[in-house]
Parts: sequence; structure tokens; C-alpha cells
Amino acid sequence: MSIFKITTVSLCLSFSLASFAQKAILADQLLLDQAGIKVIYADDLTGLAYAEINDQEEGLLQKYAHALGKCGGFEALSQDRSLSAMELDSVFFSVQVMNTKMMRLASQGFVPQPEFSEDISTAVAMVSKERIKKHVEWLSSFHSRNHKRSNANEPIQAVADYLVANLPSNYEVSLIDHSSTRQKSIRVRLQGAVRQDEIVVLGGHIDSIVQSIFDPDPRSPGADDNASGSADVMETMFILAEMGFQPARSLEFFFYAGEESGLLGSAEIAESYKNAGKDVVGVMQLDMTSFAGSGELVFSNMTDFTDPTLRSFIENLNNLYVGGTVIHSKCGYGCSDHASWYRRGYPTVMPFESHMDDYNSKIHSKNDIIDSNTNFEHAAMFAKLAVSYVMELSSNSWRPGSLATR
Ligand code: BES
Ligand code: ZN
Repeated sequence: MSIFKITTVSLCLSFSLASFAQKAILADQLLLDQAGIKVIYADDLTGLAYAEINDQEEGLLQKYAHALGKCGGFEALSQDRSLSAMELDSVFFSVQVMNTKMMRLASQGFVPQPEFSEDISTAVAMVSKERIKKHVEWLSSFHSRNHKRSNANEPIQAVADYLVANLPSNYEVSLIDHSSTRQKSIRVRLQGAVRQDEIVVLGGHIDSIVQSIFDPDPRSPGADDNASGSADVMETMFILAEMGFQPARSLEFFFYAGEESGLLGSAEIAESYKNAGKDVVGVMQLDMTSFAGSGELVFSNMTDFTDPTLRSFIENLNNLYVGGTVIHSKCGYGCSDHASWYRRGYPTVMPFESHMDDYNSKIHSKNDIIDSNTNFEHAAMFAKLAVSYVMELSSNSWRPGSLATR
């Protein structure tokens, strides 16, 4: 006969052994209590208990198990003998290990419900559609922002200078050289105060494109694609700077080069981050935000090349602070820079101006300019989303694929 560590269990077992013609089972403690079956050994960590039952009790358990649903499972350990203390220890241990694994897996679908923050609400209210308009006007007034032009870096240098002149000195502005294009990307970094190695990314591509067989250097205003997303990224930074916002995690803002020829700048950046083992917690991509093709303040939360928990996270933020109407859509291919990050294992999200069926048909033409269809209220919605995403994700310790929220 086996010796149990716990006296009460040992007593129970000696009692049950005396009349043992029963099954040894592992069941939910709650289920055994409901069915009035004597518990021989209970494990608090798993909520499971060991019991020995006859045929009649087994019938009872089945009945109650059904009523209890998923909490009401039981499992036969042996048909004809009691289990030893050592055997029981290892049974409970293996269940504990399984539960831990299940929790980890379940956590991958876990999405935090951020609490309402006055600071974020104040910042969101500061988003200025006039300032966004001014920046889209400015960016689309360059003849072209095509990455292949001999002076492809003229708009890049102008934007970098402007950011240096208008952001506080703790916003570190750098130009990033590439090997696949002569155009440089811009990165603006605000160092985190607590966990600086954890990086929250917000970005959009700054280049534009119009292809013409007649003209080697056609006018390429790219107002919607993607002066709009770039202006939203700028707007986000200006608001954080005005707020004096100090993140726990580091923030990095990107204006990517050469997106229109195959995600050139972002591919090199994401590759080098991956090779350096950089810990990027989330990437938001803003590409085309000023055409309200599916209705004003209706945006697509793109479902391909994006992380499902980060998608739910921004939908929660939208409910708390922005009030846009969320729909779902997909490109069907790696249509923008978020795909560069996603392919290298980083969690991404891409709120987009409309459903894929309704996007601005003037992109990639000389007519992608500010016109009567340009909607800066709509573009401002994306800056509001970006402000709340950046502030919440950089203050929180939650990350896609984890349980902890703060
Ligand atoms: N902004 C577009 C992507 C886009 C267009 C998204 C329409 C949703 C609707 C982007 O700048 C672009 O043109 N991407 C290229 C792909 C890239 C890998 C060259 C494209 O879509 O052809
Ligand atoms: Zn684009």
C-alpha cells in the first residue's frame, strides 16, 4: 500500500482500498462536489481531484459533467487499482505543465482592455487637421518624391531639417542610408525612460511614384499616397512633443524610402533590426489616410501581414478615444512597409483609408493631389489612432503574445 504525504488522504485511501472494486479517476473538484462523490486528494493548482468511483457514480459524473460543460471533465486513471502517491504526484505535475503551456498559447490571443487615460484623451483632442493639411500641401508640392530621381534626397533632407527645427532636442533625427536605393529614410527616435530596448514603431513611406513611358521624371505629387500617412506621423510626433510625453518604451518614427519600388527602405531597416536582435514590440503603418472611400471616419483594419492581437488592441483604442467605424479588408499581398516588418517576425498593424474596393483611384498618377475628395477630418482620425497607439503601447508592458498588461 502506498504512503501519502498528507495524512487525511492516507486515511481516505486506506478506507477506499478496503472496498476497492472501482475506477480511479481524475476529475474537476467542482464536478465531484456536485455529484456528491468523495474526494481523496485535491490539487489546488489545477483544481483537479482524485477519486475512486463505482459504475453508478460514473453515471452520475457523466450527467453532471454534461451540465458543467468544459469545466466538467473527468478522466480514468485506472480501471482496477488505486494510484500510489508517487503516481498521483506525477499525474498532477504533468497536468500543471500542460496548463502552463495552454495558458501561454491562450495568451497569444489575449488582448488587453486598456483603461481610459485622461492624458491620451487630451493628446487625441490636440490633433489638428489644419496642421495635417499644411504638411500634405507641403509634401505634395515637391515635383516628385520618387526614390530614383537624381535629387531623390532633396525632399528627405528638407523634411529632416524641418523636424530638427520643430521638435525638441530629445527627438533624435537621423537619415538612414540604403544599398538598394539612393534615397534615404528618416528615423526619429525618442528614448524610453524605463525599457529603452523595447521599441514601438510608427511609420509611413515618404516616396511617391508615377510611371510614364513619355516622361522620365513625371510630376508625382503623392498627396494621398503617401503624404497623408507621413503627415499623420509628423502630427503624432508634434503632439507628443507638445505634451512633453515621456514613454517607458522607446519610440521610433519612420519615413521610409523607396516603398513604391518594392518596400526598399523598410526591408533594409527591418532586416538590420532583426539581425541586431532588436525588440520591436509593435509596428503601425500609415499608408493612404485622406480618401474616405467607404465613408467618412470609416477605416479598414487590414487583416493580412498584420498581428491579430495588435489589430484588436487598436480597435479597443478606437472605441476609447477615436470613435471611427472599423471594417476589415486586405491587400492580398505585401502592399506596404508593414509587410517588411511582418515577414521578419515583428507584430504589425495597418489602419487604412477604406475598404480595398473603395480606395483612392488617383494614386500613382499626377492627379493624386489635394482636391474636393481629400478629407482631412478622415486623415486626422488616423493621427488620433496613432497618438493613442503610441502612448498606450509605450507606457504599457503588454506586448502581442503576452498576458501581462502593466
Ligand atoms: N499605398 C500603396 C499600397 C496600397 C494601394 C494599399 C492601394 C491599398 C490600396 C503602396 O504605396 C503601393 O503602391 N504598393 C505597391 C506594392 C509595393 C510592394 C511596390 C502596390 O500596391 O502595387
Ligand atoms: Zn503607398
